[in-house]
Amino acid sequence: MNLQLPYCFCFFLLLQLPFSTNGQAYNNVSLGSSLTATAASGDLAWTSPSEEFAFGFQQVGDAGYLLAIWFNKIPERTIVWSANRNNLAQRGSKVQLTADGQLVLNDQSGTQIWTTPYLGGSGAAYGAMLDTGNFVLAGQAGANLWQSFDHPTDTLLPTQNLNSGGELIAPYLEKNYSDGRFKLILERDGNLSMYTTAYPLTASNFNYWTPGSSLGSGYQVIFNQSGYMYVVASNGTILNRVFSNPVPLQDLYLRATIDYDGVFRQYVYPKTASGGKSWAMAPSTTSTNFVPSNICLAIRYSAGSGACGFNSYCTLGDDQRPSCRCPPGYTFSDQDDERKGCKKTFISQDCDHPSQEIDSFEIKGYAKH
Ligand SMILES: *[C@@H]1O[C@H](CO)[C@@H](O)[C@H](O)[C@H]1NC(C)=O
Ligand SMILES: *[C@@H]1O[C@H](CO)[C@@H](O)[C@H](O)[C@H]1NC(C)=O
Ligand SMILES: *[C@@H]1O[C@H](CO)[C@@H](O)[C@H](O)[C@H]1NC(C)=O
Ligand SMILES: *[C@@H]1O[C@H](CO)[C@@H](O)[C@H](O)[C@H]1NC(C)=O
Ligand SMILES: *[C@@H]1O[C@H](CO)[C@@H](O)[C@H](O)[C@H]1NC(C)=O
Repeated sequence: MNLQLPYCFCFFLLLQLPFSTNGQAYNNVSLGSSLTATAASGDLAWTSPSEEFAFGFQQVGDAGYLLAIWFNKIPERTIVWSANRNNLAQRGSKVQLTADGQLVLNDQSGTQIWTTPYLGGSGAAYGAMLDTGNFVLAGQAGANLWQSFDHPTDTLLPTQNLNSGGELIAPYLEKNYSDGRFKLILERDGNLSMYTTAYPLTASNFNYWTPGSSLGSGYQVIFNQSGYMYVVASNGTILNRVFSNPVPLQDLYLRATIDYDGVFRQYVYPKTASGGKSWAMAPSTTSTNFVPSNICLAIRYSAGSGACGFNSYCTLGDDQRPSCRCPPGYTFSDQDDERKGCKKTFISQDCDHPSQEIDSFEIKGYAKH
């Protein structure tokens, strides 16, 4: 007996070790709880029971921190929702579920950066990060007073629906999460539409996509647990299918995101298989996995800059992704931001000041597609 004791003791320690280092037992977020933006804040987040989603701070380069929800079990920590995309928080900022049941983000000096709208009465009784990716604030009786699913940024997750008036705004660039140049909206008059924004405002500008038959009677966009997305009327009739690709959610993470290039795509990521994993387009069996099918063609109007900026043109690559190009004699105005358009690199000529180099001119034709 005595000899076996040390062995048992060690075994017990080994069992305990993994849990004490990285496993936080799941708890509801209780009143008074807070998180602080620090270099390690991604590891101190409020996680869902499965730990597949987390709520907390994600650092964005050197610019600051997003109060966000992300896929927590993949190395990329892909962000699916954020509170302060246009107003990053600095180190030391704090999000707190206050004693009176409001969720508030303050900077280090105590100035408010973001808050949930006043929740009324005694506010929330507790918060919880759910396994669906929805962060909820619940009242005393358990009813949701506020949920992140009702305030999407650029992404929808399965079981997250877009209600009348709801919109997704594309990020500005792939790694710059501030409001960008494209949006998807279920308008109050019932049309599901994609628009260019009146950047830097998010007001609708040019309509470049609308699925025909939902016009005028769309009540909700449903993204269901099989990965289908469709528009329903208030009586539940399916008016239009956006994505009809069955996705096995037990094996794959799934999200639908309007990207910085203005395309709304369905992405999957394997939950288990190891090695070289990344987000890929959802398997498209019965329908497309992105809309519009050709954004270069979809955004063409006489007074505007199209899918790319002024003086540039748009082409679809083999991967079906649009890229912006400059015609000869032009370069990008901003190398890090193709959609800002192109500027000329030659000196303009006019008839009053004839050039010596007349011979060096030629006419080139470019088809826009
Ligand atoms: C969270 O709080 C609710 C309501 O008080 C309770 O029903 C639920 O069991 C709690 N969950 C956990 C994991 O503590
Ligand atoms: C994102 O881009 C906008 C527009 O160019 C810029 O104002 C903002 O500073 C950028 N944000 C980050 C974090 O780089
Ligand atoms: C919705 O679609 C209908 C039918 O095409 C159109 O008349 C109406 O103007 C659209 N609404 C908006 C806000 O664009
Ligand atoms: C999702 O919607 C599709 C198409 O309407 C339907 O066939 C499927 O059964 C739905 N899945 C769930 C889990 O409701
Ligand atoms: C449901 O609503 C749609 C759109 O308003 C309408 O076309 C359809 O006839 C309605 N169906 C039923 C069964 O009421």
